[in-house]
Amino acid sequence: MSSGGRSHTVPAADRVAMSLPRLYEMKEKGEPIVMVTAYDYPSATVAEAAGVDLVLVGDSAANVVLGYSGTELVSMEEMIVLGKAVRRGLRTPLMIGDMPMGSYESSNELAIQNAQRLVKETGCQVVKIEAGGVSVERARAIVRAGIPVMGHIGLTPQTATALGGYKAQGKTAKDAIQLCEDALALQAVGCFAIVFEAVPAEITEAIVAKLEIPSIGIGAGASTSGQVLVFHDLLGITTGHMAKFVKRYAEIHEEMVAAVGRYGDEVRARSFPAPEHGYSVKPEELAEFRQYLDQESLTSAKAWEWEPLS
Ligand code: KIV
Repeated sequence: MSSGGRSHTVPAADRVAMSLPRLYEMKEKGEPIVMVTAYDYPSATVAEAAGVDLVLVGDSAANVVLGYSGTELVSMEEMIVLGKAVRRGLRTPLMIGDMPMGSYESSNELAIQNAQRLVKETGCQVVKIEAGGVSVERARAIVRAGIPVMGHIGLTPQTATALGGYKAQGKTAKDAIQLCEDALALQAVGCFAIVFEAVPAEITEAIVAKLEIPSIGIGAGASTSGQVLVFHDLLGITTGHMAKFVKRYAEIHEEMVAAVGRYGDEVRARSFPAPEHGYSVKPEELAEFRQYLDQESLTSAKAWEWEPLS
């Protein structure tokens, strides 16, 4: 299947920037869409070099970067700092700014104001909001204000407590109907794509068959137009409990601990730094400096012409 000139095998300079028309084309042609999260300059440069299509500055930063216990704790200000750093490292993927809890639910005005802040202050091109219900109305308002919106249904971590915890959604016919209605409503108000999180594969497949817009899955089976994973989860930087849908493509945490451990060992053994890690000085300059140090009259007070403190 064509990668649309964006895979990591295509030299970065030849890569075409991702756009919404290109995203729709990918969905139409059945070309899988690759999405990953990023939260800072290094993770953005990795996403860029790997040729992913969409980069989400996710509020999962709360857990994986900022060490909070849940995504509901991250603020707009924190998301803006992270988003700005991501922008500096990205050139071609479409950048999505995640709207944190409390930044859009209470009114259309607040939602538009904060979506505009994310776009203007971080340079993201589109925003994402979670859930159906009142979020459908907020999505409509933001889209009407000219900012494309990605929806997010199923397990929506910002409202996980109300959903009964971090668990799969849409497991009963009643809940699956609700998910389907939310997806159709988000599409109807103009969302350009929808994330399905932790939804049984059969339910996702049946709903995405009804959608014209691209769908992105995370723990939702293989039928969606694309997949997303959290950067720190897929690289094995996150430690502790992992959601069932996470596949770890590396074990970077262990590698980092081992590397910092080796560094510590070498500092303690005085085997680091080696001569090649330092700078040279011309022998005549060193000799002149040593002559200066050898003066009998040199004391710290005299050298700096300071009066010693009494
Ligand atoms: O914040 C996030 O990382 C997300 C993805 C899991 C879609 O919302």
